Amino acid sequence: MHHPPPAFFSRSAHMVWLGVFLAICSSGCNGTKADPTEIVIGHYGSMTGSEATFGESTDNGIKLAVEEINAIGGINGKKIRLITYDDKGDAREAGTAVTRLVTKDRVVAVIGEVASGLSLAGAPVCQENGVPMISPSSTNPKVTKVGDLIFRVCFIDPFQGSVCAKFARESEKLKASKAAILTDQASPYSVGLQEEFEKAFAALGGTVVSKQTYQAGDQDFSAQLTAIRGAEPDVIFVPGYYTDVGNIALQAKKLGINTALLGGDGWDSSKLGEIGGKALDGCFYSNHYSHQDPSDRVQDFIKKYNAKHKQTPDGLAALGYDAARILFQSMQSAKSLGGADLAAELAKTKNFDGVTGRISIDADRNAVKPAVILEMKDGEPHFVTTIQPGE
Ligand code: PHE
Repeated sequence: MHHPPPAFFSRSAHMVWLGVFLAICSSGCNGTKADPTEIVIGHYGSMTGSEATFGESTDNGIKLAVEEINAIGGINGKKIRLITYDDKGDAREAGTAVTRLVTKDRVVAVIGEVASGLSLAGAPVCQENGVPMISPSSTNPKVTKVGDLIFRVCFIDPFQGSVCAKFARESEKLKASKAAILTDQASPYSVGLQEEFEKAFAALGGTVVSKQTYQAGDQDFSAQLTAIRGAEPDVIFVPGYYTDVGNIALQAKKLGINTALLGGDGWDSSKLGEIGGKALDGCFYSNHYSHQDPSDRVQDFIKKYNAKHKQTPDGLAALGYDAARILFQSMQSAKSLGGADLAAELAKTKNFDGVTGRISIDADRNAVKPAVILEMKDGEPHFVTTIQPGE
């Protein structure tokens, strides 16, 4: 019998092992091997940085929903496993996080982001890879226009802008005829909401007397605030995120400005009152939820959330919870967990009884829902009124 020389033999053995290794790699190295007893979903959010409460609260809301569904046996016998990545509030990090979720972790769906600018970074990755994405809270209209796999469970800014304008013009508390606006010029959310407010305020007979801009993270707003003070507005619209808004409120007070600030959902954070304190007294913002809503729907959620996370949920916690529950409901009835089947089911969502209101997904994959107006007092938001769509 012919024996190959030892050197050749060991070389071919190596080749065989290399082949085996490559075969394992192609299924395991760039995609975690699926565990047939679980369903993996992803979340990307700002868990650190100046919008850290956005990501933390959303994640806490999602986790509560995951715990609840798993406690009743998961979905069709499979447990849900959540993978969360911190995008640090950065668009590039958001894109990387979503790429990792869809290509490496092979999630069946992605929840996120909060900030519209970051959802706009993550959504194209989901769309291209055939994975549905649900933003719990991005309100800029462009987000769901990225494609037919991109959904949201919150209202959009043409509505939010008109809610703010209506409140500014018509509420007894403001009765404003002149508005100043201070916009974060690099934020798609801020710029978009500012445009919608301006349009709606003018349509209601109001005048915008000063338009100023800043960049997220700025520390000195005195030039803009001094210009605004000179224009003598009845209200100052600040469609920004909470850290900047808190700082703006403090500096406005220092400059002797007692005009009310008014903003959108970007103010929603327990940190807002910690930063701005009493400087925010008598300021207002629109939001998706009030923890003072006495309905069982809201109070039951607060009880469960508080038991798990030892804090009062903000609007983002409620939206994260609602987004996850709508996803689970769709998973339960979808033909398969493939992107197209799951998206088809998400698109059918009608009258879902969410913590943040009745949620129906419209033809543009947006939700149509009421907004609430909250007033800051001693660092805490207080419920003022609810404004229905089409009112
Ligand atoms: N709507 C904001 C955006 O689109 C995000 C946000 C929602 C922030 C709700 C706080 C609360 O950027």
